[in-house]
Amino acid sequence: MSTAQEKYHQLEERHRLAELGGGQDRIDKLHATGRKTARERIHDLLDPNTFVELDKFMTHRCTDFGMEQTKFFGDGFITGYGKIDGRLVYVFAQDFTVFGGSLSRANADKIVKIMDLAMKMGAPLIGLNDSGGARIQEGVQSLAGYADIFYRNVRASGVIPQISAILGPCAGGAVYSPAITDFIMMVKDTSYMFVTGPDVIKTVTHEEVSKEELGGAMTHNSKSGVAHFTADDDEQAMMMLRELMSFLPSNNLEDPPVKPCMDDIHREDEKLMDLIPSDPNKPYDMKELITTVVDDHHFFEVMPHYAQNIIIGFARFNGSPVGIVANQPAYLAGVLDINSSVKAARFVRFCDAFNIPLVTFVDVPGFLPGTAQEYGGIIKHGAKLLYAFAEATVPKITLITRKAYGGAYDVMASKHIGADINLAYPTAEIAVMGPDGAVNIIFRDKLSDEERAKAVQDYRDTFASPYKAAELGYIDQIIYPRKTRVRIIESLQMARNKRETNPPKKHGNIPL
Ligand code: HXC
Repeated sequence: MSTAQEKYHQLEERHRLAELGGGQDRIDKLHATGRKTARERIHDLLDPNTFVELDKFMTHRCTDFGMEQTKFFGDGFITGYGKIDGRLVYVFAQDFTVFGGSLSRANADKIVKIMDLAMKMGAPLIGLNDSGGARIQEGVQSLAGYADIFYRNVRASGVIPQISAILGPCAGGAVYSPAITDFIMMVKDTSYMFVTGPDVIKTVTHEEVSKEELGGAMTHNSKSGVAHFTADDDEQAMMMLRELMSFLPSNNLEDPPVKPCMDDIHREDEKLMDLIPSDPNKPYDMKELITTVVDDHHFFEVMPHYAQNIIIGFARFNGSPVGIVANQPAYLAGVLDINSSVKAARFVRFCDAFNIPLVTFVDVPGFLPGTAQEYGGIIKHGAKLLYAFAEATVPKITLITRKAYGGAYDVMASKHIGADINLAYPTAEIAVMGPDGAVNIIFRDKLSDEERAKAVQDYRDTFASPYKAAELGYIDQIIYPRKTRVRIIESLQMARNKRETNPPKKHGNIPL
C-alpha cells in the first residue's frame, strides 16, 4: 500500500504532466510561430493567482486509431474560472500542443461544464481559441460536442457577456461558436477563421487565396465584419480583453461597473465651437468630438477598421460606461449603408441587453443610393438599425451635430423611436433632404440659376436648422458645442433610473 507521501507525489506528477501539455517540443514549436501557450494566455488575461482550474486530469475516451495509447491530462483544453479586475469570469483555452487543440467529447464536456456554471453564477465567459477543429479520430462525438457548445452559446446570449479570442486556427463549423459570442478578437499574422480553407476553395471554385487573405485578422476586421478587434500579439490581445471587460456588467441583471471619475464633469471645450465646418459639404472627424467629451478623452473603439462611416465603441461619462454610436462625416460623408447599419445595429442590441446607455452622435446625409445597396438589401439591413434603436430600453441620448436628413434622421435614435433626450447644435440641419435635392424635386427645371440659388437658400433658412424640430418638441435642447460634455452627463444622470420594458412577447422578428 502506498503511503500518503507517495500519493502526494503522484498528484504532483499529474499536475506536472498536465501543465506540460503536449510536451516541451510542441511548446517550443508553438512559441516559434509567435503564439503563446494556453496557460501563458490565461496567465496574461486574469488577475494574478486567481485562476482555478477544473477538470485538469480529464482525458479523452477514444479507443479508435490507437488513441488509447496517447492521452494527455486535460486533453487539450484548459478550463476554469478566475478574476478580471476582481470580478469573476469563466475561461477556456484550447491548448494547441495537445492534438492541435482539437475538440474531443471529453473536452467539450469540460467547456459545457463551465458554460453552465457561468450561466448559474451570472459571470462572463471568455474563450481563447487555437484549434485544429473537430478531433478527427472521434468523428460525430466531436460534432456533438460542438453542438452542445453552440446551444449554450445561444442560450447565454444576452444573459452573460461572451467573448472570443482567435489566437491560431479556427476553421470549419468551429467558427460558429465565436460567431455567436458578442465580440471576437483576432491577432495579426497568427490567427485565421474560415468555414472552408484555401484547398477546398481551390477545388470547388478554382480561386487561389492564402490563409491570411481568406481569413486573417485584417480580413475579418476590415472586409467581412466578423471580428471586432485586432491585436499585434497574444499579450496585447489579453490586455484588450481585460479593457473590454471593464465596460461590461457581469450579466444582464447588473449595471455596468462605475469607475471613480477624475475628469471634471463641467469641463468645457472651446475648440468644439469651431469643429463643425460652415461648409456643409466639408468633412470633419467625429472621433475628435467623441474623444474631446468623454472621460479622460478615452474611447475604446469597436470594429475600427470596418464600415468606417459609422463609429461604435465604449467610453465613460462621469465614470459610468456608455455605448457610443456616431456617424463619421470624414468617411463616405457619414452615409448609412448596409455594412454600417448592421455594424451599429448589433452593437446597439449588445448595449441594450447589458444595460449600457447609448449616446448617439448624428451627422448623416441619408442612406447610400445605388443598385449595389438596393440589391444587397439596404431596406432590410437599414431596418435592423431602426429596429435595434427602437427596441432598446436603456437610456438613449442623441446629439445632432450637423445633418440629419430623411429616413436616417428617424433611424439615428430620434425622439420618435424612443430617445430620452435629443440635443442639437445650432449648426444642425434637420430636414427631409438636403436643400439642393429638395429644390430640384419641388421645382424641377422651372427655375433660372438665380431663382434656384434663392430657393436653395430659402429652403436652407427654413428647414436646414434645428429650430423647426425644436418648435415641435422633437429636439429638447439646442446646445453650445463647448458644453457638450456637461449636457450629455446631465442627460445621462437624469435617465439613470429609467425603467422601460417592451411588451411581453416570445421575441421580436428583427429583419435578419
Ligand atoms: C486531431 C489534430 C487535428 C484534428 C491537428 N491535429 N488538427 N488532431 N484532430 N482536427 C494534430 C496534428 O495531428 C498534430 O499532431 C498537431 O495537432 C499539430 O498539427 P500540425 O498539422 O502539425 O500543425 P500545423 O502545421 O500548425 O497545422 C495546423 C492545422 C492542421 C492547419 C490546424 O493541423 C490541420 O489542417 N488540421 C486539420 C484541420 C481540420 O480539417 N479539422 C477538422 C475540420 S472540420 P502531432 O502529434 O503531430 O503534434 C471541423 C468540423 C467542426 O472542425 C464542426 C463543428 C460543427
